[in-house]
Amino acid sequence: MRNIMFRGINRALRSQGGLRGRIWYSIKAGQPLYETRPHLIRKGELTPGISAEEYYVRRMNVLQTIPEKSMVVVPGNETQFATGSVFHEFRQDPNFYYLTGFLEPGAALVLYKEDQENVHSIFFVPQTDKNAELWEGERSGTKGAMEVFNADAAYPFELIGTYMHELINRCDHVYADMSENGSRFPRYFKSQGTDILNGSFADALRRSSGGKTFKSAVSLIEQFRVNKSEEEIDAMRQASEISASAYNKAYGERFASEKALHAYLDYEFKLGGCEMPAYLPVVAGGKHALTIHYTRNDDLLRDGDLVLVDAGGRYGGYCADISRTWPVNGKFTAPQRDLYQALLNVQKQCIEYCTVDHNMSFDDLHRTSEDLLYTEMLNAGISNLTRGRVRDIYPHYIGHHLGIDVHDIKTSSRFDKFQSGQVITIEPGVYVPDNDMWPKHFRNIGIRIEDNIVVGKNSYENLTIDCAKEIDEIEALAQKKEL
Ligand code: GLY
Ligand code: MN
Ligand code: MN
Repeated sequence: MRNIMFRGINRALRSQGGLRGRIWYSIKAGQPLYETRPHLIRKGELTPGISAEEYYVRRMNVLQTIPEKSMVVVPGNETQFATGSVFHEFRQDPNFYYLTGFLEPGAALVLYKEDQENVHSIFFVPQTDKNAELWEGERSGTKGAMEVFNADAAYPFELIGTYMHELINRCDHVYADMSENGSRFPRYFKSQGTDILNGSFADALRRSSGGKTFKSAVSLIEQFRVNKSEEEIDAMRQASEISASAYNKAYGERFASEKALHAYLDYEFKLGGCEMPAYLPVVAGGKHALTIHYTRNDDLLRDGDLVLVDAGGRYGGYCADISRTWPVNGKFTAPQRDLYQALLNVQKQCIEYCTVDHNMSFDDLHRTSEDLLYTEMLNAGISNLTRGRVRDIYPHYIGHHLGIDVHDIKTSSRFDKFQSGQVITIEPGVYVPDNDMWPKHFRNIGIRIEDNIVVGKNSYENLTIDCAKEIDEIEALAQKKEL
């Protein structure tokens, strides 16, 4: 059996306050660092906006929660290939990212708690390899994992099967991030020639753990992701401000096609400082807005129509998620204006409920939003609407948690009351079908308005407040007029 040597965690953070004393050309890493990209990463940070200390605290929080003789296994993502050697843009696994800030594909984290005093962050990372690095760029390697990312121990990823086996033998409780249903694991083990070969990762772990307690790590980690830290909120503020500014500029342009508007927003997000778009955007002209997940974005934009856009940038790994709807030609028609104002009233009222003191859950707020929309639609002249049919014109949910994932926190319940520090979206919509049930002048109009809100005790912060949404503001920006 391999003898694993772990160093204690009770030592100064190597990266805290930056890598002092190092000279820039001695740093090799598979991602930007302060030493190599000071225009992206500030001193003391590992990723934009998030310090090495915060990553350390996140791992310690998880380690403090688990019993003695436990381990938590969190795999990173691997490069996905479209075909042959043609790869997709890489995005790190959210839980692995949250706990490490490590951006290279093909890595894993094991948190191991021997007892209260001896806890370890063990990184398995791609080995430095001259030939591979010639093609793919620099890797941090085990040295970087320890010196930059504050691992207590780091090993080449190739050895994970062997080490895992030994660690499982030492533990009574094994937590694994099964967010992908274990499907990412078997390949790792198969490649190692260990006895953990077949079936899902869960089965493999169970077999190898000899009936020891085996649990999902998802809620264990997500309980810390659900309420955002000040550093996380700052990163989301950045993502929101950059994205809001892109929208405000877009209002003043005239785009001939959905594709051109899509490309403009992607460009503005990146130019403003985001790493990438947070998700595939919806850019839906006219009746395409009635398709909630319209992402073809391949039609022309037509004079007299509205365009519904749902897009946001990602900064420091954190998402903005904004929806706005505006007239292609810069001026709302009367029916568009009436429907838009009705929905805006609903959205603004829902945002007012985003405080702890209002004691709301997503479920409470969704039902409230349906009630509000019902009243607004009656006032707008849809007199034959019943409360039960509100879902016909508002078929989706009021919002979701936002963070590293655009739909953040898989394990949260819609019945949980909002807590301080949670970042949520408020995004009611109205989509009027093209049939006789609805007034002719509203048919085929689809509108969604979405902001990103930080919940506070008796107040809230709207991170996307700078993205214009009042009718006169949008029209002024669209026509490049002063208000
Ligand atoms: N952009 C996806 C959503 O709003 O849920
Ligand atoms: Mn959205
Ligand atoms: Mn959303």
